Amino acid sequence: MIRILLITAIMILPVHAYAASQSMPLKSVLIDLNNKSSLQRGAQIYVNNCLGCHTLKYQRYVKFVDHLQLPAETIENNLIFTTNKDGEATKIGSLILNSVNPDHATEAFGVMPPDLTLIARSRGADWLYTFLTSFYKDETRPLGVNNSLYSNVGMPHVLVWMEGLKKQSSETGGYEYINKGTMTSAEYDNAMTDLVNFLVYVAEPAQLDRYRIGFWVILFLGVFSFIAFLLKSEYWKDVK
Ligand code: HEC
Repeated sequence: MIRILLITAIMILPVHAYAASQSMPLKSVLIDLNNKSSLQRGAQIYVNNCLGCHTLKYQRYVKFVDHLQLPAETIENNLIFTTNKDGEATKIGSLILNSVNPDHATEAFGVMPPDLTLIARSRGADWLYTFLTSFYKDETRPLGVNNSLYSNVGMPHVLVWMEGLKKQSSETGGYEYINKGTMTSAEYDNAMTDLVNFLVYVAEPAQLDRYRIGFWVILFLGVFSFIAFLLKSEYWKDVK
């Protein structure tokens, strides 16, 4: 018994240690991979605003047909904007890449924007959501913005047109908006939920299959337990 408790404690420990090492409390985001329209909106925000710098090099566009329930034409017309070296439109079976030149990117931002296919696994959904909602104006930084979660981040606030620009308020310790974007703050939070939902899906598309298969497995176990119970009652009824 003590051994089982010890093993459980060891399994839980690293999660807590990781959570404690955060510089600020993370906001929590509700992930719902069954919400296809949320995943579709997230994909749209991603290709329009993030793909220019961050690839998803372990994912192919064609996977969106099944996983996001998007018709192939919709993907070709609305999500694929890149071309190959000969100028032909990228094929739907291709990996999700961009044409960033690493030397130029490093010169511009100090670092190469990382691939984000697995970012939701390494950082976690809440971290991503907090990161995307924590950009604020900071004149001392080269790009004019900073991030409360990721200090001195090398990434510009690319969604400033959606969110608007906020500054840290010295009185309340929170933020106050100095420029409006195209969205209200609640709409922006919803858009970031969609974007993080999409990144969680991309990091492990097999989750969708697991949910589906899991449902049948649990159902089978339920039905099987019932049959096993009937069988047991049948076997033991004369023994008593
Ligand atoms: C103009 C280029 C550019 C665009 C567009 C861009 N980013 Fe970034 N991003 C960067 C750079 C550069 C870094 C590295 C920053 C650093 O390490 O200081 C970065 C870092 C990140 C990180 C942190 C990675 C880590 O764990 O270190 C995340 C998450 C991220 N970006 C998400 C996004 C999302 C989501 C979008 C779209 C809304 C986006 N980025 C659009 C340039 C960009």
